[in-house]
Amino acid sequence: MKRKLIVANWKMNQLLAQLRQFFKTLADAKITSDAVELVVCPSLPYLASAVEAASGSKVAIGAQNVSECDFGAFTGEVAAQMLTDIGCKWVLIGHSERRSLYHETDELVGKKTAKALSVGLNPILCVGETLAQREAGITDATVQSQLRAALKGIAAQTQPELVFAYEPVWAIGTGKTATAEEANRVHGVIRQELAAIYGEAAARSARILYGGSAKPDNAASLLQQPHIDGLLIGGASLAADSFAKIAAAGVVPG
Ligand code: PGA
Repeated sequence: MKRKLIVANWKMNQLLAQLRQFFKTLADAKITSDAVELVVCPSLPYLASAVEAASGSKVAIGAQNVSECDFGAFTGEVAAQMLTDIGCKWVLIGHSERRSLYHETDELVGKKTAKALSVGLNPILCVGETLAQREAGITDATVQSQLRAALKGIAAQTQPELVFAYEPVWAIGTGKTATAEEANRVHGVIRQELAAIYGEAAARSARILYGGSAKPDNAASLLQQPHIDGLLIGGASLAADSFAKIAAAGVVPG
């Protein structure tokens, strides 16, 4: 039985006092079940504070981005080794905001994924179609080609764990969620593509998260789908009680 992975993506939000309050409230919610694994991804300046605030709890900390390069003259960038050095365990890679606002290509996403894996960071590789791509009927082809391009040269991984996130761009921050059935269908397409790349066994054990307006109201129905192994949550992860409710939805067996 795979553990559900519930990931908070705070994007460019939360100051230190809010971060501390979040971890206090989350601790009070006592999500102790081994059925769920929790990750919080704050902004860069707060990663070390988050590692400290989460120490002794079951929450792991992730970054929202990482450089594809080793140490060197790359002003403004952060090396994967720095993230592991301060106790980060996870990193989001290829989020649609990185792709659309900062022009990250599949090739760069692949390089960042390889770099994270090489230092023992668990990457969460995000894929998903835009509204125009969905309307053009190329949802499946889009996620397949994003995966194939990013995974070129990357071997199947269990340790560190390479996790995938399906995030339809039209559902992110819009309040529009893919129906649980449609999200599950696309997750199935992703799993098939992983089977073609890595074989059936690796594809079966890979965890694939859904992201895009996930919230306490729809978390349970999404998490009950056979191909949905967790959630990547933006807006609804900023308040600890809302994040805790979503996490609790992952504890209930589907
Ligand atoms: P949202 O964001 O939950 O606010 O839609 C999800 C994400 O971008 O990871």
